[in-house]
Amino acid sequence: MSTDPHSPTPMSYADYLGLDTLLASQHPRAVPPQHDELLFIIQHQTSELWFKLVLHELRSARDLFAADELQASLKRLARVKHIQATLTQQWSVLATLTPSEYATFRTFLATSSGFQSVQYRAVEFLLGNKNPDMLRVFDAEPGARDLLAEMLREPSIYDVFLQLLGRRGFAVPPEALERDVATPYVPHDAIVEVFHEIYSDPPRYWDIYETCEELVDLEDNFQLWRFRHLKTVERIIGGAPGTGGSSGVEFLRRALDQTFFPELYTVRGQIAQGQ
Ligand code: HEM
Repeated sequence: MSTDPHSPTPMSYADYLGLDTLLASQHPRAVPPQHDELLFIIQHQTSELWFKLVLHELRSARDLFAADELQASLKRLARVKHIQATLTQQWSVLATLTPSEYATFRTFLATSSGFQSVQYRAVEFLLGNKNPDMLRVFDAEPGARDLLAEMLREPSIYDVFLQLLGRRGFAVPPEALERDVATPYVPHDAIVEVFHEIYSDPPRYWDIYETCEELVDLEDNFQLWRFRHLKTVERIIGGAPGTGGSSGVEFLRRALDQTFFPELYTVRGQIAQGQ
């Protein structure tokens, strides 16, 4: 199909969007067919599409931080925050799935689980939650494993933001600036002190201060998504184990203790206590 709008065979809506492929990509497995399985599939697929855009925007935001283009980067993060809000709001659609409805097709999912979402893990890596052990989950999917290995080796948004602070003259310790970015991040007291300085004089450091708050917004939104996932899962499967083999809700609850930007939270405790 031609891309020329004046061509006798102009591109159609369906062509441009690849709708033939997109709309033929829902394959309910239950035998006999179950009405509610389509909701379950589409809820996951739409989440994956949004994850794809989040990755696209976050990568760009990170590269803009690296180029000291702070304002342009914040524009990217603003979009990500709206996508996160949409993803969190979207749980209410799945929450209409009752335990009895889910039970009609659950066995047909076999061992598949959101735990095996490579894009979700890539977003976590990009934000700063690096965990090399996660690569093993994708041993049987070389394409996914390669994407994740690449994301593991690349600096996270947080790594790049700390480097930007270093370039701005803040006393970011060399251990943070030169760290092996493929390993889990280790918090530093000296970085808490940097944030303390920034938060003690917002007018002086306004663009950096604003960026810190944008990062906290991102983490906050991520946690809201995790929490809504947990509560939706709880109302559908209660205390049962997950299809991926975990303890289920208990496992998801532990993820709420994870943080991408630890020093940005430590500094809040200090400020609140007048330190
Ligand atoms: C009936 C609906 C759902 C149930 C019962 C459910 C249940 C679970 C459970 C129990 C886990 C822990 C791993 C396991 O043992 O499987 C998990 C992980 C996960 N699920 Fe869901 N889930 C549902 C819907 C969704 C949807 C719509 C998404 C969107 C992509 C999603 C994404 C994830 C992700 C990314 C993880 C990994 C979380 C982490 O490692 O911190 N889930 N899910």
